[in-house]
Amino acid sequence: MKTTGQVAGIISNIVIVKVDGPVGQNEICSVYLGDTKMMAEVIKVTGDKAYVQVYDSTRGLKIGDRVEFEGHMLEVTLGPGILSRNYDGLQNDLEKMDSLFIQRGSRTEPLDFDATWEFTPLAKAGDPASAGSWLGEVTEKWIKHKIMTPFAMNGQYTVKSIVPAGTYKTTDTVAVLTDTDGKEYPVTMVQRWPVKQAIKAYQEKPRPTRIMETGVRAIDTFNPIAEGGTGFIPGPFGAGKTVLQHAISKQADADVIIFIACGERANEVVEIFTEFPRLDDPRTGHKLMERTTIICNTSNMPVAAREASVYTGMTIGEYYRAMGLKVLILADSTSRWAQALREMSNRLEELPGQDAFPMDLPAIISNFYARAGLVHLNNGATGSVTFIGTVSPAGGNLKEPVTESTKKAARCFYALSQGRADSKRYPAIDPLDSYSKYLEYPEIVEYLDGRIEKGWVDLVYKGKTLVQRGKEAYEQINILGDDGVPAEYHERYWKSELIDFVILQQDAFDATDANCPIERQQYMYNLVLDICDKSFRFGEFTQCTEFFKQLINIFKQMNYSEFKSDKFEDYRRQIDQLVEGQVSTPKEA
Ligand SMILES: Nc1ncnc2c1ncn2[C@@H]1O[C@H](COP(=O)(O)OP(=O)(O)OP(=O)(O)O)[C@@H](O)[C@H]1O
Ligand SMILES: [Mg+2]
Repeated sequence: MKTTGQVAGIISNIVIVKVDGPVGQNEICSVYLGDTKMMAEVIKVTGDKAYVQVYDSTRGLKIGDRVEFEGHMLEVTLGPGILSRNYDGLQNDLEKMDSLFIQRGSRTEPLDFDATWEFTPLAKAGDPASAGSWLGEVTEKWIKHKIMTPFAMNGQYTVKSIVPAGTYKTTDTVAVLTDTDGKEYPVTMVQRWPVKQAIKAYQEKPRPTRIMETGVRAIDTFNPIAEGGTGFIPGPFGAGKTVLQHAISKQADADVIIFIACGERANEVVEIFTEFPRLDDPRTGHKLMERTTIICNTSNMPVAAREASVYTGMTIGEYYRAMGLKVLILADSTSRWAQALREMSNRLEELPGQDAFPMDLPAIISNFYARAGLVHLNNGATGSVTFIGTVSPAGGNLKEPVTESTKKAARCFYALSQGRADSKRYPAIDPLDSYSKYLEYPEIVEYLDGRIEKGWVDLVYKGKTLVQRGKEAYEQINILGDDGVPAEYHERYWKSELIDFVILQQDAFDATDANCPIERQQYMYNLVLDICDKSFRFGEFTQCTEFFKQLINIFKQMNYSEFKSDKFEDYRRQIDQLVEGQVSTPKEA
């Protein structure tokens, strides 16, 4: 018997329900407004009162209206057919809905249950099975989508039977498992899982050992993110968070991308919906959308649905990770998620923390980031979820609670600076404030020695030091005046500018420059560092300025040319000549 209840109070989209039986924290219920059935989640229970947040507008709801509890938490449906879909935070298929402005109470099927798939068994009768073990596979787009023992099946099972290779419907039984008592469990290609619980069907979660290449130099070269790592991009309004995340989602070396557009402007979201399906994945030749799932809650959707969307995205990511795939999850912006938490907490009249965010905001954020990671699956395969969220700190204040809490949880920090954005130094990632803790991992240092070149991380620190010294020189020049400092100060400053213009700045809207493969990053970085190693001994600061401006100009054209093309090599020769000329004939004042 389902627990039912009656609406006893309404505070915006939080509804107080008097219940006639047991209800659980985070249980899902349906609130009836006439014939319209609205989904809601229990967020607090005291005595016979349940506080539920409704994922829809509660306009018109009355005291005494009926509520029915479902007996389970908010779940996602997992199975083949998730890739290239556009969902809202509750996994409604947006394509099946009339518009982005969803009708109240409307629900759609998250998967096409009538679709058929070519199933190939991977297990055979008599094999052991446990949560997450691979029973078979189907080809979804170009990914081998594993059909797994449902994650909710705790304990040890045995495969009693499995269907032969062939075409089956998503909901057909493809395997029958038995438990130690001989009880039978049919398994289909679909399973459900509560979004707020991490899927733990793996052996261990070791430290990451490789980097995920994004094609963005300021990330890969200067502050690489690990495969299975976490990072975040705080940045003031208009600093380039969305452009940067879109670049990463198009270029990153991942098998599956989940893009969570959380509370962003509807027009930006429409942009991804129209742009993504057209784009090709340069590594596979397939359409980018084939590996991408978009979860979208625009700012005009109910607040409560935003809170769900990040969890829905993470759970889908964990599902694909359990198939041994490399998953990248991007969320833009997690501040909107935190605002949803704040609104809920305020309506519940909970004791507020800093800036009225809930007291447990740091724990909520760190628990969420902790779900990312590299895992060794029980069968020895490896899968990963890499997570990068953006944060929009009000007024660019990095001391606000969401930024501070995220800083504790994420291991890469890509701080977008207003100053850089204002002077169009894109991506506006601040080279001195930003960091990647993965550069300190011996495993990653060793990996980069092999992937790029021996001693690579030392080169990275060398470049960072040059940028730091350039900044110090710049400050001195500003205080003492161009003529008030020795010419070396100008040289030091311009060397850091060279690194900035050639390596750190990158044009996200140029077909060639947007995506810089790691081999090209290595080539360019070494070229720039070699020049920085030279001592030019300019007689006058104006010579120095002139020289570097010319040099940067050629380098920029080089960045816009195809790697190692004739044009590219020609610019390379021009650079060599310019540098040779300056080194061999230092002009004395
Ligand atoms: N890498 C880049 N290359 C060139 N232009 C850029 C780049 N990044 C950002 N811009 C410019 O800055 C504008 C704002 O960027 P974006 O929308 O990503 O900012 P945002 O930080 O997401 O802003 P909001 O806080 O409003 O969400 C872009 O429309 C574009 O003109
Ligand atoms: Mg944005």
